[in-house]
Amino acid sequence: MAVLLFCLLSLGLLVGTDQVKYEPNWKSIDSRPLPDWFDQAKFGIFIHWGVFSVPSFGSEWFWWYWQKQKLKPYVNFMQKNYPPDFKYQDFAPQFTAEFFDAKEWTDIFASSGAKYIVLTTKHHEGFTLWGSKTSWNWNAVDVGPKRDLVEEIATALRANSDLRLGLYHSLFEWFNPLYELDAANVFTTNYFPTGKTLPELYELIVKYKPEVLWSDGDGNAPDKYWNSTGFLAWLYNESPVKDTVVTNDRWGYGSICKHGGYYTCSDRYQPGHLLNHKWENCMTIDKYSWGYRRNAPLSDYLRIEQLVSTLVETVSCGGNLLMNIGPTHDGRIAPIFEERLRQMGQWLKVNGDAIFNTTAWHAQKDNVTANVWYTYKPQEKSIFAILLEWPNNGSVILNEPVVTPEQTQVVLLGHGPLQWEPVKPKGLRVLLPLLSFSQMPCQWAWTLRLTGAI
Ligand SMILES: *[C@@H]1O[C@H](CO)[C@@H](O)[C@H](O)[C@H]1NC(C)=O
Ligand SMILES: *[C@@H]1O[C@H](CO)[C@@H](O)[C@H](O)[C@H]1NC(C)=O
Ligand SMILES: *[C@@H]1O[C@H](CO)[C@@H](O)[C@H](O)[C@H]1NC(C)=O
Ligand SMILES: *[C@@H]1O[C@H](CO)[C@@H](O)[C@H](O)[C@H]1NC(C)=O
Repeated sequence: MAVLLFCLLSLGLLVGTDQVKYEPNWKSIDSRPLPDWFDQAKFGIFIHWGVFSVPSFGSEWFWWYWQKQKLKPYVNFMQKNYPPDFKYQDFAPQFTAEFFDAKEWTDIFASSGAKYIVLTTKHHEGFTLWGSKTSWNWNAVDVGPKRDLVEEIATALRANSDLRLGLYHSLFEWFNPLYELDAANVFTTNYFPTGKTLPELYELIVKYKPEVLWSDGDGNAPDKYWNSTGFLAWLYNESPVKDTVVTNDRWGYGSICKHGGYYTCSDRYQPGHLLNHKWENCMTIDKYSWGYRRNAPLSDYLRIEQLVSTLVETVSCGGNLLMNIGPTHDGRIAPIFEERLRQMGQWLKVNGDAIFNTTAWHAQKDNVTANVWYTYKPQEKSIFAILLEWPNNGSVILNEPVVTPEQTQVVLLGHGPLQWEPVKPKGLRVLLPLLSFSQMPCQWAWTLRLTGAI
């Protein structure tokens, strides 16, 4: 206890008996324990929506690829389909959201089994989905839908589900003149963070009280320029969500995979082994884009087998999965995304016991049988072996668990107890029932729960 107290004192000021006051430096900020709910939640939905959803062509980086990099497909697309003087800003009035119904979205999200969502409130284009005080005429209340989309989603989510609200926010903006001025000054001035980024961050937190703040887009500027630790100290000490909010690691050049809350490390991060720090795999169902693409063929979307296997591997290795969809400019979640979300929910209904509230086990995957991943529930001493393939020979060997004939019980989730026999030198062979397709408890991956094994 004395040692613990000393550690707390050396990192921050101890207020009362158990409240730490975080200081605006990484040592103190990084010492904050991640609120428990996040590791228990395991699965969230990422939503990329903005003015880029209007061209819905190529990528949510449309503006940059078209006007900065002048990539051929984007330049040609504009030449063929728009008048020569058409500007990116002219897309905004077409961001109409006339079919957007936050309650419908919430029902789809809830059907997926996800425990949180993360909505892009402002991507690198700078357009805000709420009526930001510092984004004059470049926000969804003034232009386009003329609605506060963040407010509508936050309200519907809280009224109709137990999903938690997460907000994505880009620190930098590609073409903001204040950011460009600071960049020209090699970030020795901070007009942009003080006039734009920070006011927006405070506004988002106070107004919508998100429990995930997903920061992105450092624009190659250091965290000192963004005053990230100053903001995070306020977030953790004083903000209305100080006890439950979690953040990621994208808070300035070099902070990724090193500082902040949980690690994202890269897009589609999948280390394949256990990390000693909480992490999240953010990935997208459309293999090539986060924003909606009107011309994406079916083969560009990951299949449910691939999504389930990504979730399973991620959770076995201690991560959360943040799976992205891109709604349309008129406010729809396309049926392909809806189907993937509902399929994930069907799978989790049977197998959620092996996902939610689990921790990593001492082995992440079986080293004899391929495509078997493990999770663990210490409270009930249950080991879960998730089989990504149904063995075609009637049995599966699990080499990692240590079993005892009198105590070990094996259950196929959604089905019932199974017979098993020990194998040498260690492990067991589980005899699988002969099931027709319609008798299977689920269709894409199957969970064996082992109790009385270690
Ligand atoms: C950084 O943030 C802290 C906490 O909000 C604030 O007190 C400080 O003035 C900020 N510094 C700058 C340079 O903006
Ligand atoms: C996970 O654990 C928390 C805290 O004990 C509990 O509130 C929650 O209902 C559990 N969730 C599931 C899906 O078991
Ligand atoms: C698999 O791992 C166990 C330890 O968990 C070890 O005893 C065994 O030798 C390994 N088998 C192979 C084939 O690597
Ligand atoms: C049965 O099939 C599984 C995978 O489908 C394989 O790993 C295992 O070696 C097979 N066992 C036998 C006895 O053929």
